[in-house]
Amino acid sequence: MLKSVALTAAQCLRGTLRVPGDKSISHRALMLGALAEGLTQIEGILPGDDPRSTAECFRQLGAQISTIDGARVEVHGVGLGNLRESTDILYTGNSGTTTRLMLGILSAQPGLFSCLNGDASIRTRPMGRVIEPLSRMGAQIWGRDGAKRAPLAVLGQHLRPIHYDSPVASAQVKSAILLAGLLTVGETSVREPARSRDHSERMLTAFGADIRYCPDTTTVTLRGPARLSAQQIIVPGDISSAAFWLVAAAIVPGAELLLNGVGINPTRTGVLEVLGRMGADIQIENERTTCGEPVADLRVRSSRLEACEIGGEVIPRLIDELPILAVAACCARGKTVIRDAAELRVKESDRIAVMARELNRLGARVEELPDGLIIEGGHPLMGAEVESHGDHRVAMSLAIAALVARGTTVLGDPECATVSYPGFFEELARLKLGP
Ligand code: S3P
Repeated sequence: MLKSVALTAAQCLRGTLRVPGDKSISHRALMLGALAEGLTQIEGILPGDDPRSTAECFRQLGAQISTIDGARVEVHGVGLGNLRESTDILYTGNSGTTTRLMLGILSAQPGLFSCLNGDASIRTRPMGRVIEPLSRMGAQIWGRDGAKRAPLAVLGQHLRPIHYDSPVASAQVKSAILLAGLLTVGETSVREPARSRDHSERMLTAFGADIRYCPDTTTVTLRGPARLSAQQIIVPGDISSAAFWLVAAAIVPGAELLLNGVGINPTRTGVLEVLGRMGADIQIENERTTCGEPVADLRVRSSRLEACEIGGEVIPRLIDELPILAVAACCARGKTVIRDAAELRVKESDRIAVMARELNRLGARVEELPDGLIIEGGHPLMGAEVESHGDHRVAMSLAIAALVARGTTVLGDPECATVSYPGFFEELARLKLGP
C-alpha cells in the first residue's frame, strides 16, 4: 500500500475523460438486482471498494454476482424475502450507504439473523438515524452505544408501515425505510426537510415497485409488498467524481477538460449551480436520459472564480462536493461562507475539521464553523505535507489543490481514493501531460 504520493503544480490540464460510474446508483443496482427475480445486467458500474462491499454482502446472502471489474456485471436475484442467512459477519468496509441500506433490507426479512460491521470510520458513524425509524416499524436491531453504532445485529421481522418525518435530508435514511417497506404490507412514506438524491425512487420504479413521488415535493410513498423484476441498467458517470475535474480545470490556468457521460440528476447538480455562481465556465452538452437518469457531457475551461455563499436547500444536493468546493473557494476572489452543512462532520471523516486543517497547511485561510467553513480566497497555496485521514474525497480534493500549489505537496494515505475512484491518480498524471 502506497504510504504517500508527491504531487506538483500542473503546467497543463487538458483532455477528454469518462469518470467512473455513480457510486449511489451502483449500490442500488446491486441491491435491487439481488432482491429482484431474474438476471439483472449492469453496465458501467463503479469498480470501487464501496460497491465491492455491497456485492460481497449480497453474495453472502445468497445472490450470485459476477466480479465487478468487468464492463458488465451480472446479478442473479433471489427474489424479495428469499435472502439466505449468512454464516459470517457482513462486512460493509468504508461504506455508509451499504451499512444503512442493508439495515433496512435485513430488518424486513422475517427470521433472518445478520451481523454487520465495517472499518474504523464506519464504527464511528451514526446509525441511530436509520435504526430509530426502522424500530418504529418493528425492526429488532442491536448495536454498540445504545444501538447507535456498528457492530450491529439484526433479527428480521414482519414490519408495519410508518409515515416518517425525517429530521435530516438523507438519501440513506429515506432509502433504508423504503427498502424496509418493500416487504411490508401497506404504505410506507418518508418526508424530508429538503430533497435528497432520488436514485432509489427512480430505480425502484424501474424494477416495478409501486412508488409515488413528485419531484417538487419532499414526500415519497411506497406501497408494499412489492415484486421486483430484473432490469438492464446503465450507470452514468458520477457527478461527485466529475466535481474534482470541474474544479481542477476551473483553477488551473489554460486548462480545458471534456467529461463524457456524467449523471446530472437535479438532486445532485448543486455543484454545477454553485460553480456557475462562482463564475466557472462549464458547458452542459448532449443532454440525454439513460435508464431514467439524466446524463450529459460537461466541458469546463479555466476561469476566474469569485467567492459565494453556500447554504440552505442546495446543501443536500452537493454534500459530497463540499470538500472540493472548499478548494475552489481557496482560489476564488473574496470570502466564501459554507453553512448548514453540519452533516459533513459525520461523513467518512469530519470533513469540516479535516479540510480546514489540511488546506491551512497548504497556506489557505480557512476557519471552521460548527456547520461549515469560512474561506478567505486568493492566498497563494504552497506545497506541504497533508493527510487524507483515510477519506477518499479529502484525498482527491487535496490532490487537486496541489495542482495550484507552489512546490511539492506530499499527500499521505492517497489510496483510499479507490473507495469511489480507482485510477484517479493515473488519470491525473495523464491529464497533466495533455492530449
Ligand atoms: C448517499 C447519500 C448521501 C451521500 C453519500 C451517498 C447515498 O449520504 O453523502 O455519499 O448513496 O444514498 P446521506 O444520506 O447521509 O446524506
